Amino acid sequence: MAQDDHSGSELAAADSSHAANVPAVKAGTALVQTDTFENPGFEPHRPRVTDEDPAREKRAQRTVYTLFYLSILGSVWAIAAYMLFPIESNDVGAVRLNNMFIGLGSALALLGIGFGAVHWGKTLMTSAESIDIRHPIGSTETTKQGAVEVFRQADEESGFSRRSVIRNSLIGALLVMPLPAVVLFRGLAPQDQHPVELLSHTMWKKGTRLTLDPSGVPIKAADVTIGSAFHVIPEGLSELHEGRLEEKAKAAVLLMRLNPEELNETEERSTWSYDGIVAYSKICTHVGCPVALYEQHTHHLLCPCHQSQFDVANHCEVIFGPAARPLPQLPIEVDDEGYLVAQSDFTEPVGPSFWERH
Ligand code: FES
Repeated sequence: MAQDDHSGSELAAADSSHAANVPAVKAGTALVQTDTFENPGFEPHRPRVTDEDPAREKRAQRTVYTLFYLSILGSVWAIAAYMLFPIESNDVGAVRLNNMFIGLGSALALLGIGFGAVHWGKTLMTSAESIDIRHPIGSTETTKQGAVEVFRQADEESGFSRRSVIRNSLIGALLVMPLPAVVLFRGLAPQDQHPVELLSHTMWKKGTRLTLDPSGVPIKAADVTIGSAFHVIPEGLSELHEGRLEEKAKAAVLLMRLNPEELNETEERSTWSYDGIVAYSKICTHVGCPVALYEQHTHHLLCPCHQSQFDVANHCEVIFGPAARPLPQLPIEVDDEGYLVAQSDFTEPVGPSFWERH
């Protein structure tokens, strides 16, 4: 493109000399670009070492297929690890081993393919630059009309619009068809208890002591200093032999102590805290990640999964992110020995929404 003598941009009136090239604009507002530059084109082609040295080409080839073989090894190891390190119920160590070895195998499988493909592209595939001219994406009028004609003809021949009873029964059948899958999913939930009941209640009840996670040591109110935060589980959780992880996934709590003047408590909840100590569910109301990051200066809790933030000073209301509801608060008090205890279970279901909890 031709380049003129001026540099920078200048405002120019849309005078008659520009009229042929410049779209109609208000006089004095047209921005005329004068700093256009020439297309520099491609740099001269520089051959790679593998283009010139057959020994290096062979070495690159060996590297690429070794990476692909490593990927195969990773995949096979991931399958073997699944069988060699099975998940045992209530054995966190077994879960860890299972996840770690399957993860290592999968990582090797993916990285082997990724690195191999990149290395192949960079060292062995042709490196000549080429231009791919961009074409209009939309179909031509004739093609569009042809497509419409095909639909019209199919409708005509099948009688889809004409035979309304058949059409409506087909739509009904398609709508009902996925329902068996929904019913079968019900089989995944425990059979002896109603799933809504299970999701609506946790281990917390009146008098349950708040204990440290994972040691299970009860917490005295006097040990909770202003600004501190504790990961908490209900007393007795560590001794459960069945369903410990499921219970923990519902009952995990964060305990924090603020200056009592900084807490904006509603009338109804003014007795749910103890001298600035508050307890909230640790299960994010978005999709259930543990909300584990506490910023003591702002009193904000951050969920690391999708960055929802909750304001502890204002009943953990959502101040940012996709979570739709505040974190449920666990009402607490202190027993005769000075230990923190729950006043009751949570007064609402914890965690994300489900079919009877929106
Ligand atoms: S799970 Fe917490 S923000 Fe998504």
